[in-house]
Amino acid sequence: MKFSILYILVLFVSLSNPSSASDTTFNVLSFGAIGNGVTNSTQAFLDAWSAACGSASSTLIYVPKGRYLLGSMILNGGCKSPGITIMIDGTLVAPVDYHALGSYWLSFLGVSGVSIIGGALDAKGSALWACKAPASMESHNPCPDGATSLSFTNSNNITIKGLMSLNSQLYHIVINSCQNVAVEGVTTIAAGDSPNTDGIHVQLSSYVQITNCIIKTGDDCISIGPGTENLWIEHVICGPGHGISIGSLGKDLKERGVKNVTAKQTIFVGSQNGLRIKSWARPSSGFVQGIRFLGAIMKDVQNPILIDQNYCPHNISCPEQASGVRISDVLYQGIRGTSATPVAIKFDCSVKNPCMGIRLQNVDLAYLQTEMTQSFCANAVGKVLGLIRPNSCL
Ligand SMILES: *[C@@H]1O[C@H](CO)[C@@H](O)[C@H](O)[C@H]1NC(C)=O
Ligand SMILES: *[C@@H]1O[C@H](CO)[C@@H](O)[C@H](O)[C@H]1NC(C)=O
Ligand SMILES: *[C@@H]1O[C@H](CO)[C@@H](O)[C@H](O)[C@H]1NC(C)=O
Ligand SMILES: *[C@@H]1O[C@H](CO)[C@@H](O)[C@H](O)[C@H]1NC(C)=O
Repeated sequence: MKFSILYILVLFVSLSNPSSASDTTFNVLSFGAIGNGVTNSTQAFLDAWSAACGSASSTLIYVPKGRYLLGSMILNGGCKSPGITIMIDGTLVAPVDYHALGSYWLSFLGVSGVSIIGGALDAKGSALWACKAPASMESHNPCPDGATSLSFTNSNNITIKGLMSLNSQLYHIVINSCQNVAVEGVTTIAAGDSPNTDGIHVQLSSYVQITNCIIKTGDDCISIGPGTENLWIEHVICGPGHGISIGSLGKDLKERGVKNVTAKQTIFVGSQNGLRIKSWARPSSGFVQGIRFLGAIMKDVQNPILIDQNYCPHNISCPEQASGVRISDVLYQGIRGTSATPVAIKFDCSVKNPCMGIRLQNVDLAYLQTEMTQSFCANAVGKVLGLIRPNSCL
């Protein structure tokens, strides 16, 4: 008897004061959001964000099951709250008219300690992809570039976990000028021929981790831009898509380099590229240094291992056709599977700045399951350790 009274008392206290046990909760429904797929809930979400941001304690913004129509939103930092978790059981839906969003959809600026847990984003990009399709270009007004679905800029200590991003108009997720970001268990899905729908783009950021993600999209699965340092990628499945790509780099004369990138235990299925480094054939101060590709499985990948420093679409604005980007210390270890083309390894480096310190260790790539593959080298210096198929040209 004594025990049960105590138990009831404890239960009563914990129910009446949830913030003592966890965060202060803000349910978007109490700010007027309606999850019926057609009511514009933008203002309700912005109001929930303001309330959470202004709270002195750690906060939880809760989005229950349902489909919430949202226009472009900027979620600004400068919050009192030391940590804001956005827990999503529903789907956030973009307007059908692709002109409505501009260049971003859900954009976090200058936030710290923000986590997005669960949920789905449906950006409804297919109408814009159709507009951009070469066959339809003439019959339409110029198509807008489209919006990135989710972006973090100038932000720290960010987690994105268990999110599903569908049919982005442009990039699915962008991490720009951030530190300490974990992207975990995220799935992105867009058509294999959808233009510029990169899965996760990272630039000017350090200590970003991308783990246990599945990326099926029309452009790079992960694209790594200038100023990326200490990036860790592990257990990522890519395809369709253009692979994990460092670059394009070196478009600008003055550009920050890419340093210390690890991509471990990756799988590529029918993708255009596997592990790629790509730079413009233009003068640049950029560099790529300390890259480790550890353990990859390729299934019918067109270019499993590729360095392309001669990127210059239509030969416009590449005065000397030589890249200024200096590539050094790149390890490919334990890369196996099948190439969909005869050339499984291609190092097409800059005539002005040869690739240095390329290492191939235990690489085994076949063409059409059984045929021998070839490798191609131009201006590449390095060495081979262990078994290599195709024969190395280093
Ligand atoms: C939704 O509401 C926001 C602000 O409340 C407004 O700026 C936006 O244009 C609306 N979007 C649509 C698609 O109606
Ligand atoms: C980020 O998290 C680390 C470790 O939890 C903490 O020391 C640091 O102050 C945080 N930075 C910001 C800007 O919140
Ligand atoms: C490289 O980055 C990883 C995180 O991805 C970090 O743990 C490691 O210390 C970095 N190494 C150097 C030499 O900076
Ligand atoms: C671009 O220029 C290079 C070198 O000048 C030449 O080999 C190549 O054929 C040109 N490509 C196109 C598409 O014009």
